[in-house]
Amino acid sequence: MSIRLSSGKEIPIEMHKTRMIQKIQLKPVSERLKAIEEAGYNTFLLKTKDIFLDMLTDSGVNAMSDNQFAAMMNVDDAYAGSMTFYDFAKAVEDVLGFKYTMNVHQGRAAEHLLPKVFAKEGDVIPTNYHFTTTKAHIELLGSKVLEIYADLALETASKHPFKGNMDPQKLKNVIKKYGREKIAFVRMEATTNLLGGQPFSMENLKEIRRICTENKLILVLDGSLVGENAYLIKQREKGYENKTVAEIIREMCSLIDLYYMSGRKNTSVRGGCIASNNEELFNKIKPWLPVYEGFFTYGGMSMREIGAMAVGMREMVDPDVAGCSVEQIKYFVNRLTETGIPVVTPPGGLGCHLDAKKFLPNIPQSQYPAGALTAALYIASGIRGMERGTVSMDRDKDGREVFSDLELTRIAVPRRVYSISHIEYAIDRINWLYKHRDMIKGLKFTYEPPVLRFFLGKLEAIDNWGKTLGAAYRKELEEQPTVTVRAP
Ligand SMILES: Cc1ncc(COP(=O)(O)O)c(C=O)c1O
Repeated sequence: MSIRLSSGKEIPIEMHKTRMIQKIQLKPVSERLKAIEEAGYNTFLLKTKDIFLDMLTDSGVNAMSDNQFAAMMNVDDAYAGSMTFYDFAKAVEDVLGFKYTMNVHQGRAAEHLLPKVFAKEGDVIPTNYHFTTTKAHIELLGSKVLEIYADLALETASKHPFKGNMDPQKLKNVIKKYGREKIAFVRMEATTNLLGGQPFSMENLKEIRRICTENKLILVLDGSLVGENAYLIKQREKGYENKTVAEIIREMCSLIDLYYMSGRKNTSVRGGCIASNNEELFNKIKPWLPVYEGFFTYGGMSMREIGAMAVGMREMVDPDVAGCSVEQIKYFVNRLTETGIPVVTPPGGLGCHLDAKKFLPNIPQSQYPAGALTAALYIASGIRGMERGTVSMDRDKDGREVFSDLELTRIAVPRRVYSISHIEYAIDRINWLYKHRDMIKGLKFTYEPPVLRFFLGKLEAIDNWGKTLGAAYRKELEEQPTVTVRAP
């Protein structure tokens, strides 16, 4: 939550205390430069020993609660029929309202199974926006993703509260053009990751539901970030101010046919699940689970994690959990906006997103501005963010670049991990970087994998700009004498 100080200033306040810590270190810029060069200017390839604040993602790196750790000690280990799985299924029913559930080892396993079961080659899957692994699985199975977001979704500086909405008219046009037989399912993603953590409204979800019902289409929700979407509906949508996050999540789930999530985000556990109230749809997926994931009552997860996920599922509807990173992100984004830093607004979930096209207008998309900015941020701060731009798009079948709609440097805010002083440090270093932005140039690939190239690809800095930036940092921020306070 946020709290108003007596000065009138509002700050996010952590509704938990730290009872276990992990030490981190801030390496000098000379070592950071060496590390990013060895990593091929790809922050995925850095080692954590070289990282100060790890803001690559909010996935699999959140702090678990004491009750989650306790649950891990008290599980029923069994290949089949574990009672821990049934506890988890009960949590899903209580929180999401679904009678049927299965675990998968993480979100992308669900993204593999859904098109495998429901899509034929040549089918299309309309979505409010794609996610990298969703798109890869759909395309590997011979289907196509159609992004039918509202036009304003791509305006990075905006006041629109629901840039994650699907455009209902565009969905109707898609149905007319392809016919419903060619539409495997319609996919809505909560707190749309690649649009900069932007939510959809309940009104929009209801409208999409109506269209799906009229046309007998399956509506799927990617609920990996469902808690934040519900929290933002509560804050922004008329009629939802007095509903609880729990009630809003239940209402969202009541509107869909199939739900899946990466548990690594909202439930703070390495795992995932698929859930539904539609027995027929559910039973089409179920036989494939043991082939790809594991038996029905573990789905590729360890029992310890399923135990922790059951607790995490109940905890994710607590506004102090659903809103903890949203409030920090709001503070982060608003402070950067005050000094004119181009960021995605309004603040959403997941992280703070720098608009690299505006930050570095001289770098063409063919030289990966978001990749360059992400590497520059690491050099100037030790903060690891993630490129979410053209590097994160794979080439088309003919080897041509596919330019991303947005070029974003995502600085994720994992749940309950960092404090406001860490965010203040990030704000300071981003401002420093903005003043020195002319030093940053583009990148070029030296090794490019054939699929999801952003994970393992390597690049180099054009004209060796990393060294110039590092030297400026050393001179201005490391070689200045530190102020010491002497005893009188
Ligand atoms: C919206 C969304 N869907 C699916 C996934 C994939 O989940 P996982 O990383 O658990 O495979 C992610 C991961 O970040 C995500 O953000």
